[in-house]
Amino acid sequence: MTDTLKGKWALILGASSGFGAATARALSAAGMNICGVHLDLRATLPAAKAVIADIEACGSQALFFNTNAADPDRRTKVLDGLANALQGGSEPRVEPGAEPRVHVLMHSLAFGTLLPFIADKPEKAISQAQIEMTMNVMANSLVYWSQDLVRRDLLAPGSRIFSMTSEGSHRVVRNYGAVGAAKAALEAYTRQLALELGPRGILVNTIEAGVTDTPALRKIPGHEEMLAASLRRNPSGRMTTTDDVAATILALSQPSLRFISGSVIFVDGGEDVVG
Ligand SMILES: NC(=O)c1ccc[n+]([C@@H]2O[C@H](COP(=O)([O-])OP(=O)(O)OC[C@H]3O[C@@H](n4cnc5c(N)ncnc54)[C@H](O)[C@@H]3O)[C@@H](O)[C@H]2O)c1
Repeated sequence: MTDTLKGKWALILGASSGFGAATARALSAAGMNICGVHLDLRATLPAAKAVIADIEACGSQALFFNTNAADPDRRTKVLDGLANALQGGSEPRVEPGAEPRVHVLMHSLAFGTLLPFIADKPEKAISQAQIEMTMNVMANSLVYWSQDLVRRDLLAPGSRIFSMTSEGSHRVVRNYGAVGAAKAALEAYTRQLALELGPRGILVNTIEAGVTDTPALRKIPGHEEMLAASLRRNPSGRMTTTDDVAATILALSQPSLRFISGSVIFVDGGEDVVG
């Protein structure tokens, strides 16, 4: 079944860590080429290099950009590079019969400010700039990348877009106000894109992962208690893993699945429904 993905391209925003990295590995193991965008400094760069090495070990192409996915000029440069690779680049390696388009866009960016709206001192509360940055990276950028891919004719009928949401979209978590708002917006953007891209045959869904032990989660104040609480309440008796999400995106990327769009797909072992 996975053979049908061979030679197709995925564009993964946030490919060096967490869900994005696990999905890059799973899709490349199924024969897909990966264009990855990530933002890493020296300390975390080895993780990005390890993802690239794993993709290439599968015989797939890895085209990675260490750059800010929320910057419009950087987005243009990434898409120029990707368009060139889709045409075969300097060393044509396009599979015979492969569509020179992007089969999967995954938005898995984690870059938000975790501060309360209300604090005793103004400098301890989230600022306008921090709210706008969080919304821009974690939600609005999904729309801009999708728009540019469509304008460049890089999405074909059958292409899929996945965003990553969390229970913070509909439940309050301390210090998570801006990210929660970004998740609510991301879900609304996902539904709107499903409406507007449906006539083009493009399927758009958001994955709601359960609490998962990733570098982004470890930045949330009180994450130890979040992890413990999620382990206690998860009906499946364990935490969600990045591989759970990767396996779901791999399954939902199969060309034979053609009619799931506009959905919030829970990949959490039932964690959300127990509250
Ligand atoms: N970890 C959880 O419990 C959980 C649960 C549900 C949803 N999510 C969501 O899943 C998504 C991914 O989270 P994760 O836990 O895998 O995080 P992570 O920190 O492991 O990975 C984040 C990735 O985003 C990249 N990145 C961040 N800002 C960027 C920018 N401006 N430009 C380019 N790349 C950038 C990083 O380099 C990294 O590759 C996020 O949207 C997060 O909110 C996480």
